[in-house]
Amino acid sequence: MTYLGIDIGTSGVKAILMDEKGRLLGEATSGLDVFRPQSGWSEQRAEDWWTALLAAVDRLAADHPAEMSALRGLGLSGQMHGATLLDKDDKVLRPAILWNDGRAFAECAEMEAAEPRLREIAGNIAMPGFTAPKLLWVRKHEPKIFARTAKVLLPKDYVRFLLTGEFVSEMSDASGTLWLDVGKRDWSDALLRATGLERSHMPRLVEGSAPSGDLKAELIKRWGIAGPVVVAGGGGDNAASACGIGAIRPGEGFVSLGTSGVLFVSNDRFRPNTAGAVHAFCHAIPDTWHQMGVILSATDSLNWLSKLTGQDAARLAGEAEARFTGPGEEIFLPYLSGERTPHNNANARGAFVGLSHLSDPARLAQAVMEGVTFAFRDCQRVLSDAGTSIDYLLAVGGGSRSNLWLRMLATNLNMPIALPHDGDYGGAFGAARLGLCAAEGADPATVMTRPAIKSVVEPEAGLAEAYANKYGRYRALYEPIEEARS
Ligand code: XUL
Repeated sequence: MTYLGIDIGTSGVKAILMDEKGRLLGEATSGLDVFRPQSGWSEQRAEDWWTALLAAVDRLAADHPAEMSALRGLGLSGQMHGATLLDKDDKVLRPAILWNDGRAFAECAEMEAAEPRLREIAGNIAMPGFTAPKLLWVRKHEPKIFARTAKVLLPKDYVRFLLTGEFVSEMSDASGTLWLDVGKRDWSDALLRATGLERSHMPRLVEGSAPSGDLKAELIKRWGIAGPVVVAGGGGDNAASACGIGAIRPGEGFVSLGTSGVLFVSNDRFRPNTAGAVHAFCHAIPDTWHQMGVILSATDSLNWLSKLTGQDAARLAGEAEARFTGPGEEIFLPYLSGERTPHNNANARGAFVGLSHLSDPARLAQAVMEGVTFAFRDCQRVLSDAGTSIDYLLAVGGGSRSNLWLRMLATNLNMPIALPHDGDYGGAFGAARLGLCAAEGADPATVMTRPAIKSVVEPEAGLAEAYANKYGRYRALYEPIEEARS
């Protein structure tokens, strides 16, 4: 029997096929573009997710026909928070407004004023990246579109609708809308009311490891599948990644060096702590929650530098590593898309400080990697202010291919960071595991095991003090730079 995991990422759709033992049988990806019509905006066309999904799964089916024929379960994972608006005939009304779009800044304050219990119910501060403030923005700036909106779906849930014909979401992704009562694992009428919406605008809710519908007959035929396929609730990309690396018990977490950066830790109960802009969400399995610190531009910062210098990002990181002797002179603030944790400031912007005639692409790359590392250090600081300790940390995401980046992280977080053996432990793999749970009724605790570890990167005592000093200087820069800009 086989299981398919599909991750609707920001830079592409990834599909992986695994067997009942969790062994990877095949994978395929298909790229996606992000549109930035104005500074701080970020949009995608919902139809592009579907085109990319079909391209990726068609390729998997062509390359692995026998394995695809044995498909029993499918799980979805995806970029969180994006607002996909459908009219009463299920037609998409406008480009989806994504998680790293900061336009709904003013609407956050309006929403908090409209429902003073918001932080308590949602477990989170209203941030422009979340879905609900985006709808308030649409109501104000595009009233005709708001009036025609019949359903609001998260990116993977829009794709689920095309796969199954069902309007369903699950607890982990729904937590990032600001419409969920995160402690109760149910939509909150009060929060919906604060944005002029009702339950009828929302999809039905299931747990991530539970069935949400069946794959449509035409897709079963298209991909040469022998029997029916159960589609699991799945998870927001971070909760799904946690399922992929077995971070489901309290204190188990990961550091994700992807487009965004995430420091994630599982909790046994709902632990809201909005000071420091910590996110408190449901996990993708029942009776489990998680917290995370989110930084908006992680590898995205290095990709930005790569575009600017015309040099490949991996090569830049490699050169920085070859020349690395310790913390460099240049300091980088990675706020290219504003920042969530710890600043909750969509209008924050990035900066390079300490430039000289010696500053070349490799030195700037080191500064970028350090700046992102310090942003993770900020996340760890506010998670520990919230009383959370992280006992076990695994690295995932494209940036974890850089050994230097992992050394910086281990030293700055002052804890060992485990690196899994080659394999795929992103959202798609966790989604496939959720697909297995839903199709077979398997216990998530037995399915969500930890991967084999390739290496453990230890903190380097010799670099600790120099990095503590540089981190202090990094922290001191945020306020004066923001003041100087305003
Ligand atoms: C989490 C978040 C990002 C996106 C990226 O709150 O906004 O990690 O899920 O895909």
